[in-house]
Amino acid sequence: MKKKVLSGMRPTGRLHLGHYFGTLRNWVKLQEECDCYYMASDWHALTTEYANTSKISENTFEMIADWITVGLDPLKSVIFKQSAIHQHSELFLMLSMITPLGWLQRCPTYKDQVREIKNKNLNNYGFLGYPVLMASDILLYRANLVPVGEDQLLHLELTREIARRFNNFYGKIFIEPEAKLSKSTRVPGTDGRKMSKSYGNSIFLGENSDAIKEKVKNMFTDPLKIKKNDLGHPDGCVVIKFYKILSEDSDKYSKFKQREKDCKVGSIGCSLCKKQLTEILTEFMKSLSGKRKKLISDKAYLEKVIMEGCQKAEDCAQKTMTEIRKALKF
Ligand code: TRP
Ligand code: SF4
Repeated sequence: MKKKVLSGMRPTGRLHLGHYFGTLRNWVKLQEECDCYYMASDWHALTTEYANTSKISENTFEMIADWITVGLDPLKSVIFKQSAIHQHSELFLMLSMITPLGWLQRCPTYKDQVREIKNKNLNNYGFLGYPVLMASDILLYRANLVPVGEDQLLHLELTREIARRFNNFYGKIFIEPEAKLSKSTRVPGTDGRKMSKSYGNSIFLGENSDAIKEKVKNMFTDPLKIKKNDLGHPDGCVVIKFYKILSEDSDKYSKFKQREKDCKVGSIGCSLCKKQLTEILTEFMKSLSGKRKKLISDKAYLEKVIMEGCQKAEDCAQKTMTEIRKALKF
């Protein structure tokens, strides 16, 4: 039996290379060996965007277009959106009854975000309970594996604890899912911090060549390397991190495995090094942008994909809910 995989992504805006190398590349690989469910978690977006919901629906649509552009295949994976499957909210309600408040209040991601996100009022019940919604997403499909980044590991642990507690009360309904931590690729933004839309340091999927050129030009490099023959110190350089990611991703770029050495011995200068990176990234984006444009303009096709995905997801979700109601003697 194939393992069942579930993962989700919030539709909070355009996708960037961080999403691609950090997450989507793994999702695409997994669909070859597992039964995969990929969800646009638009209800999760509400936990922080509740005051302005105008973009959520459009973002969901574009995000799913991006998923398919980079290789998620609707014939292999179930692609759906959370808000279309009301069973998520039903299970969320049931799980919220058995989840001790302390588990949520102690959650470090919760405390961090309340501290860091200052421009929104997050002192809400829904925001505190967000890991319970995530647990519902996973348990509803009885997923065995959940591909997540390290930042979500604690939420997955919480999901396992909630599943255990539920099973103790009502009998063995849920499987305890495991995290699938793939070799995590931390993609740096142009400024060297983690690539993130909120830092303004992102290179977006489908970005045009002028924008890429400008962004690569602004990447932080070794400040001591001025002339081509200066011996470089690539450790703090953002450009080299991209060469590493790209040369590990595809044999096509294997020749750039040398780049670190070339930099250190002074056989390449920063301007050529950046020019070549611009070229590679431009070529990579070009291969995506045609497909992306076509998808975005074919609304009917995308809507059909989402509708069919939702239908499959709902069938699976409803089976679980029927068992749960029975177990609770409802
Ligand atoms: N919480 C995840 C994030 O913010 C997205 C998500 C929602 C998710 N539901 C999920 C991930 C279920 C894995 C499984 O990135
Ligand atoms: Fe970075 Fe390339 Fe310059 Fe070395 S030569 S510091 S790797 S940009």
